[in-house]
Amino acid sequence: AKTHHHKFVVQATPVKRLCKTHNSITVNGQYPGPTLEVNNGDTLVVKVTNKARYNVTIHWHGIRQMRTAWADGPEFVTQCPIRPGGSYTYRFTIQGQEGTLWWHAHSSWLRATVYGALIIRPKEGDSYPFPKPKRETPILLGEWWDTNPIDVVREATRTGAAPNVSDAYTINGQPGDLYNCSSKGTYTVPIDSGETNLLRVINAALNQPLFFKVANHKLRVVGADASYTKPFTTSVLMLGPGQTTDVLINGDQPSGRYYIAARAYASAPNAPFDNTTTTAILEYKSAPCAAKNCAASKPVMTSLPAFNDTATVTAFSNSFRSPNKVEVPTEVDENLFFTIGLGLNKCPPHFRARRCQGPNGTRFAASMNNVSFVLPSNISILQAYQQGIPGVFTADFPANPPLKFDYTGNVSRSLWQPVPGTKGYKLKYGSRVQVVLQGTSIFTPENHPIHLHGYDFYIIAEGFGNFNPKTDTAKFNLVDPPLRNTASVPVNGWAVIRFVADNPGAWLLHCHLDVHINWGLAMVFLVDNGVGELQTIEHPPADLPLC
Ligand code: C2O
Repeated sequence: AKTHHHKFVVQATPVKRLCKTHNSITVNGQYPGPTLEVNNGDTLVVKVTNKARYNVTIHWHGIRQMRTAWADGPEFVTQCPIRPGGSYTYRFTIQGQEGTLWWHAHSSWLRATVYGALIIRPKEGDSYPFPKPKRETPILLGEWWDTNPIDVVREATRTGAAPNVSDAYTINGQPGDLYNCSSKGTYTVPIDSGETNLLRVINAALNQPLFFKVANHKLRVVGADASYTKPFTTSVLMLGPGQTTDVLINGDQPSGRYYIAARAYASAPNAPFDNTTTTAILEYKSAPCAAKNCAASKPVMTSLPAFNDTATVTAFSNSFRSPNKVEVPTEVDENLFFTIGLGLNKCPPHFRARRCQGPNGTRFAASMNNVSFVLPSNISILQAYQQGIPGVFTADFPANPPLKFDYTGNVSRSLWQPVPGTKGYKLKYGSRVQVVLQGTSIFTPENHPIHLHGYDFYIIAEGFGNFNPKTDTAKFNLVDPPLRNTASVPVNGWAVIRFVADNPGAWLLHCHLDVHINWGLAMVFLVDNGVGELQTIEHPPADLPLC
């Protein structure tokens, strides 16, 4: 196994998109940021230097971080932010994961431009469980604002309203042909007639689940979230923010150019969303576009599902299986039930009305089990946990919602106001955990991409309506469920996940729609190392940023 050393310099860089240039925060001046390529078993050492004017941290999304919780990255959860002028070196080893992950900033909305692909190939000497593709192409789906995304979220926080939706989606940083001033940069993916390209599709958008399609070409899904899947063929993908999907695409169509396209899967009725379409071009190398007649030969267009096509999402999501029988815990030690959803909080009396521009003069909020998560501001939760410092968080996050109700029905207004808190739930090292993630229809039903740090989990069942512990357990797949790090919980429905708490640390569980983290849709699992309550975690590295 190798050790890879990288230097990330976080800095302001002029980036021109949609006819306008603005200073974006990038890594090493690149947008999207550098692609990291490693083999399973390798170690990454990434020195991050902050030359921007914002605090920053980097999270290695989906990396298990076995016993390296200090390298996980979420601001105020496993570290204090790297201040302007500061630096921090993340060190971790890839253990047993293969496929596509990514890295992104985990401070405010910096990940709008601070992100990149993290490709994990099989151990040296091992091969893919599918025929080796001729080419491999990372496809990062992103979201672009015509203004500074940090200002967008600050404004939303100030007013309590929903933030402005994005102005474009992007593929590898480029909006593509269908937007103004964008054709020149449109990303091109090469393919050869009769040969295969492995597309590593990553949804790096901030707030939008996305459909993804390639004109006239079938996609063969072989992996997701750096786990292999039992291969299946589809014409359309749906990825929630945070999720990745690896697909094989064959050059089996007449030579030419075909659009690759992505646009919103918007499951919340009446909520505004960016309804534009981003494109790249799949181009047969055997017939590259001759410069002269390029404009004349338009790529073949594709039609994406309607923005509210939940049936397509359900069929896609139900197709995922692990390739073999897996070791999903058959019994559980912790049987947890977490509600996930929005809320609306009253305008605090000292606020002027103009500062509460949510529905009917309220402020938007979100919660799990009615707790609206608040990050600490002067120490990380992991430091407080490791050093036994009181007063930073409480370990009383409820195992069940404070009140059961019809999660798909009309809900009493009293439930619309979650209670702010910095709450964790302690898991005994090695315990077998089940979490039912139940969407509420408070304010609006919506598909929430729920991401767990430090773990992969099996999604053993999903469904619509209220989870019924008497009948829905019959639907549990304990044979070959998919292993993921982010679950798209169906709109107006639920998902059940299982994992074994074998990794000590403080691990965030949150909705990967960034605005929902701002509103509090998060909690933290605290896992000891199996040898006692205090001093349960390895000591932090000497350069860990302090507040
Ligand atoms: Cu991809 Cu908490 O993050």
